[in-house]
Amino acid sequence: MTTPNVAPVVENFDPSIPGIDPGCVRKLTLASGAVMPAAAFGTFHSDWAQAYIKEATVEAIRVGWRHIDTARAYENEAVVGEAIREAIRKGYIASRDELFITAKLWNGHMSPKDVEPALNQTLRALGVDRVDMYLNHWPWPNVHTPGCTGDHRNPDAVPYIHEAFMATWGEIVRLKQAGKIVDIGTSNHTAADLKLLVRDTDKFSRPALNQMEMHPLFQQTELRRYIESLGIVCSGYMALGSPNRPGRDRFREHRSDMADPLIQAIAAQNAISPAKVCLSWACQRENQSGGFVAMSTHTARIVDNLSAATKDFLTPGQMLAISGDGTAGHPGIDANNRLIWGQVFLWPEALGDWRVLWNDSQVFETRAAYAKFKQSFAAHYQVWQATAVCVPH
Ligand SMILES: NC(=O)c1ccc[n+]([C@@H]2O[C@H](COP(=O)([O-])OP(=O)(O)OC[C@H]3O[C@@H](n4cnc5c(N)ncnc54)[C@H](OP(=O)(O)O)[C@@H]3O)[C@@H](O)[C@H]2O)c1
Repeated sequence: MTTPNVAPVVENFDPSIPGIDPGCVRKLTLASGAVMPAAAFGTFHSDWAQAYIKEATVEAIRVGWRHIDTARAYENEAVVGEAIREAIRKGYIASRDELFITAKLWNGHMSPKDVEPALNQTLRALGVDRVDMYLNHWPWPNVHTPGCTGDHRNPDAVPYIHEAFMATWGEIVRLKQAGKIVDIGTSNHTAADLKLLVRDTDKFSRPALNQMEMHPLFQQTELRRYIESLGIVCSGYMALGSPNRPGRDRFREHRSDMADPLIQAIAAQNAISPAKVCLSWACQRENQSGGFVAMSTHTARIVDNLSAATKDFLTPGQMLAISGDGTAGHPGIDANNRLIWGQVFLWPEALGDWRVLWNDSQVFETRAAYAKFKQSFAAHYQVWQATAVCVPH
């Protein structure tokens, strides 16, 4: 993957807008004892944003963001590296050590032999000798082409096979031991695969963080509580509802978090932006146990978003109205509005149903177990095709 040569765009940025003292931003303590700023600045390029990422990241550091969320899949690690160096040159930070840098292993590099070269490439591109957090980006080693459309499918795609994943994870742990990674974690992992991972790891090799989609209309409270019960901190991406996400992640069923009537009403009551309502909720919920990842390409919003992590902007009543408590009196606004369905990662036996990715109905301990399932599935499917009136594709 290469970084496109894009011209810098400056009109969105206003260096006269004052920043926030990073010391005032909430921190989360990981199982290792490491301290992580709860607010992470996202760098996902989403095509349209690529031209803004360098300036946006420099501005984010100038105004006080100290946690930068990157990934090999975003195809801009070198641009983010340039931004970090520019922020140092401009005196916004004295050194890279003031930042908490999260990077991610891409699905296409989950073969054990590819893990160290992938991390080395990330370190080179970012211009750093270690990352503070290295996440396994997705549970499945299934790739899609950059910028692909929603109907992309990979015929070699497979479900989560724990035996194979542990070989990947073993390499990640080895690189932690080698000092190239400070803390390790997962992203988009599910209850079943994290249960297996925790079963087969010790204090040193256990994930410290799971980054997962979470926003007011997609709260994932049950999964989050389960993951937290394993000693893993949760951070929510697309915390604003990702209004400009790629076309492959847009579906008719989707609703906008920032346009939700309750979010709008609370914003009006408190005289804050709907974005700040979403991000304050992300910080305050579940006893302030988790964080968020959000991005913007406008200075005013970059500051507004960070300020959401500096104190409680929502009252307990407003938190209850958004989160609900399972009673009819307080239903909350969770609408199971998952934005990333993940359909581009589907394997053949999922029969095109993206919910199979998330409901743990096809998680396997060993390659042999999956091979057995695949074989019996093929036989069953043949009978089904020969006999049923209607067969899903
Ligand atoms: N682990 C994973 O699999 C995964 C998946 C997706 C994303 N992520 C991470 O999470 C980050 C955030 O996700 P995302 O960028 O898709 O979604 P997001 O942060 O929810 O939304 C970003 C969008 O919201 C707009 N926005 C930002 N602040 C705003 C404000 N105060 N008022 C109104 N609009 C505002 C931005 O537009 P402007 O730029 O015009 O302000 C931008 O288009 C990514 O950058 C990436 O680092 C991780």
